[in-house]
Amino acid sequence: MFLPPSVFPKGSKSLVKKHLSSKIFNELEHKKTDSGFTLAKAIRSGIKNPDSSIGIYAGDAQSYQIFSKIFDPIISEYHGFSKNAAHPSDVRSLDLGPIDPERKHIKSTRIRVARNLKGFNFPCHISLSHRRELEKKIITALLSLKDNLKGNYFPLEFTNAKRIEQLKKDNLWFEKGDRFQDAAGINSDFPKCRGVFHSVDKKFLAWVNEEDHLRIIRLEKTSNISNVFNHLFRSLEVLNAILDFTRDNTYGYLTSCPTNIGTSMRASVHIKLKKLELKKDHLYNLAKKYHLQIRGTSGEKTCVENAIFDISNCQRLGISESEIIRNLHIGLLAIIKAEKKL
Ligand code: ADP
Ligand code: ARG
Repeated sequence: MFLPPSVFPKGSKSLVKKHLSSKIFNELEHKKTDSGFTLAKAIRSGIKNPDSSIGIYAGDAQSYQIFSKIFDPIISEYHGFSKNAAHPSDVRSLDLGPIDPERKHIKSTRIRVARNLKGFNFPCHISLSHRRELEKKIITALLSLKDNLKGNYFPLEFTNAKRIEQLKKDNLWFEKGDRFQDAAGINSDFPKCRGVFHSVDKKFLAWVNEEDHLRIIRLEKTSNISNVFNHLFRSLEVLNAILDFTRDNTYGYLTSCPTNIGTSMRASVHIKLKKLELKKDHLYNLAKKYHLQIRGTSGEKTCVENAIFDISNCQRLGISESEIIRNLHIGLLAIIKAEKKL
């Protein structure tokens, strides 16, 4: 069944609703990628969820070309990036020092990148047998890692409750996707062929078949964000040599959600801001000024508990990896200064 743009829920402020004019809709309605992904599939999450902010997902790398008339304006508005610009990449080693050495405010730093493998559809459009084949390929690569990256894989389907409890406590586990991902099709066959890999020291991890084929993560109880960054990118060099990731000259790494393309990197800190919690306008203005995003303590679309905010970069495209870290560093220094002043 196919639906005209007018079916977007009333009151929805999603970017897909804003940019999908009847003209674009008519042009794209009957198009398909080589793997059979359609506009109807791409926009189903935005149709089902009136509170979507974006509302569209890609089913494969080719979706960004075939449906570029709708993806381009959304990408341009979200990332402030024009298609004529080049997406820079720069992962040089940084030495910015700890922001909050005593960890009075910053409890931990987590940096993740998303990666999808060439030759497989993205998670909202993949069959069970391909998801299984993909999981096998990824596990083989992860279990071949050596030295400080050596670790174990815990499949969501078969890990025992006690272990899961510990992995949750350590913030390493992931759950079934939210209603936005669900409507997109990302939860199909859940929990089959999903899992978490972590190194023995639990600082390096990989989420397999969550919103993207891979989320590659470094998580440490530190405020030294540049150190975390340096470690993560050294690990990525190793993975790059054994897995083949989709990358586009204009849009960088291609991901399920257009908010994640480019560097696909989200560098976040868990930061305690007792005073600013009572002055949220001030905090949100600072975040806006420094191009930062504020999430809840348990991740996207969750609430803030015990004044622990998740603060991260907002922009991922048209900006290099190193620049993201430098900007985050500057923004966090300003936020901590404001907290101390209150
Ligand atoms: P993603 O970062 O993959 O886009 P989420 O915002 O849902 O997705 O975050 C994923 C998980 O990582 C959540 O459980 C969240 O609490 C945890 N997390 C995020 N940032 C940090 C951090 N700096 N320290 C510890 N845990 C974090
Ligand atoms: N699809 C959701 C929305 O439009 C989430 C977008 C960004 N988050 C993500 N996990 N991709 O609001």
